[in-house]
Amino acid sequence: MIIKTFGLILFFSLSESKNNFRPNLPLGEYRLVIDKVYPCGSRINHSVQFNIYSSKKTSNITEMKGNITFLTPFNDNLAVDINFSSWGSTGGWIPNYYIFRGKKACSNLRNLTGNSWFTFVKAFNIPTDRCPIPVDTYITSGYDLTKFEDNNLPKVFFYGKYKVVVRYKNVENKEVGCMVSEINFIRPWETPI
Ligand SMILES: *[C@@H]1O[C@H](CO)[C@@H](O)[C@H](O)[C@H]1NC(C)=O
Ligand SMILES: *[C@@H]1O[C@H](CO)[C@@H](O)[C@H](O)[C@H]1NC(C)=O
Ligand SMILES: *[C@@H]1O[C@H](CO)[C@@H](O)[C@H](O)[C@H]1NC(C)=O
Ligand SMILES: *[C@@H]1O[C@H](CO)[C@@H](O)[C@H](O)[C@H]1NC(C)=O
Ligand SMILES: *[C@@H]1O[C@H](CO)[C@@H](O)[C@H](O)[C@H]1NC(C)=O
Repeated sequence: MIIKTFGLILFFSLSESKNNFRPNLPLGEYRLVIDKVYPCGSRINHSVQFNIYSSKKTSNITEMKGNITFLTPFNDNLAVDINFSSWGSTGGWIPNYYIFRGKKACSNLRNLTGNSWFTFVKAFNIPTDRCPIPVDTYITSGYDLTKFEDNNLPKVFFYGKYKVVVRYKNVENKEVGCMVSEINFIRPWETPI
């Protein structure tokens, strides 16, 4: 547990992050359940277009469907900004729970998503599993979101429900792409609600 917690702290200190932890939240090994994925509300001038949505296939499998359109290559000139809100005990999202900022969006994403990067690339028929991803529209018939559990993220986290906003920024720090997911970190023996 000490080593795992250390790994988590290391991850947080490596990423240029800002967070206001609630240490009363229990921490531990988890299963990641993704409830929903959708594009952000405001998408003016976006060159990375997440035309995606989630669809329940069976009681325990949710798929990502739709397409992703890159009008510029998806490469390491982009930066990524990940903003977690947590679901409060009395309802409603509590913003700024955790913010991760990283340069080299493509490589960082590829490293953090681990094996799920490869299943994702395959599901969207992207012709390369390396960075950069060329300009095109990539369509999926369905990506099983449970596959996303096979990643390189920290293996322990604070249990709970989160809204995760992932924004991509160009070298001028202008937002070029944005998507949202609603996720749950549940105890390994729990079943999703
Ligand atoms: C979108 O691009 C146009 C043309 O470059 C620019 O005039 C406008 O301010 C941009 N809008 C936003 C919200 O960035
Ligand atoms: C991508 O998704 C958008 C929004 O659903 C849709 O309008 C567009 O036709 C799709 N493009 C392709 C090539 O499927
Ligand atoms: C989903 O449910 C089916 C049938 O109950 C089960 O066989 C399968 O292992 C479950 N899959 C996951 C990812 O939990
Ligand atoms: C994070 O998201 C919350 C809720 O959407 C928003 O109020 C806040 O300004 C965002 N913070 C940053 C740094 O983007
Ligand atoms: C991704 O991982 C590879 C191999 O471990 C490493 O060489 C590279 O520097 C990493 N890239 C980033 C942006 O962290």
